[in-house]
Amino acid sequence: MENKIPRHIAIIMDGNGRWARERGLPRAAGHRAGVKTVREIVKASLDLGVPVLTLYAFSQENWKRPKEEVSLLMELLDYFLNKEIDRLKKEGVRVRTIGRIEALPERTLKKVKAAMEATRHNDKLILNVALNYGARTEILDAVNQIVEKARAGGVPGMNGSGLTEEVFSNYLYTKGLPDPDLLIRTSGEMRLSNFLLWQLSYAEIYITKKYWPDFAREDYLKAIREYQRRDRRFGDICAEDAAGR
Ligand code: IPE
Ligand code: IPE
Ligand code: MG
Repeated sequence: MENKIPRHIAIIMDGNGRWARERGLPRAAGHRAGVKTVREIVKASLDLGVPVLTLYAFSQENWKRPKEEVSLLMELLDYFLNKEIDRLKKEGVRVRTIGRIEALPERTLKKVKAAMEATRHNDKLILNVALNYGARTEILDAVNQIVEKARAGGVPGMNGSGLTEEVFSNYLYTKGLPDPDLLIRTSGEMRLSNFLLWQLSYAEIYITKKYWPDFAREDYLKAIREYQRRDRRFGDICAEDAAGR
């Protein structure tokens, strides 16, 4: 397993609602069950030495959900951080976020900021949580910052031929993080749902039918093993043909 551990794994945690419905339970029960999976996957990431884990926890579009469900999701985030912060701190996890977190409810925002502050010296695993995240907004936020800088006199790193991918990446919420090598989506949906549109450009995609509350360490290992078997060509010819070149 040690060989070729992805430097960054991004997960669209999906299917909590359907998991609950199939059991005749309220959606809230699915979200609660999903929190346990988060704990398990963070633990597995630490054990495996995955350096960066990004979890899609709340999208910009998720505000459309009933008010009660949105509140519950925020409460669960509070609950998770309350319950786990000491352990995260001890285990060497650094909490980071992507997304417009200022729009979160005040109490939740405070918790999130405190967790980032308390773990800022950790470097074993970066737990990057996407909150009020939208990829198109992220790209526009970057462009607008660049435009602002250009108006004010210049964009650092920009040369005569314009922006490079590297310079542009520094304006994204993921500044400083490697692009995901592996994207996992649970619940079988075949879409990106406005997640990391720029950063996922060459990620390997793994989709499982399992709902997020049922996604266990074993399923995570399976996804990583499959990733390890993939031939990532990045536009080049396949490894076998390259050997005979
Ligand atoms: C994912 O599960 C959790 C969040 C979006 C926060 P869903 O709530 O989307 O579950 P389904 O897709 O309705 O089954
Ligand atoms: C994506 O899941 C967002 C999160 C996992 C937080 P959704 O369930 O909101 O996505 P859609 O609506 O199926 O595209
Ligand atoms: Mg969903």
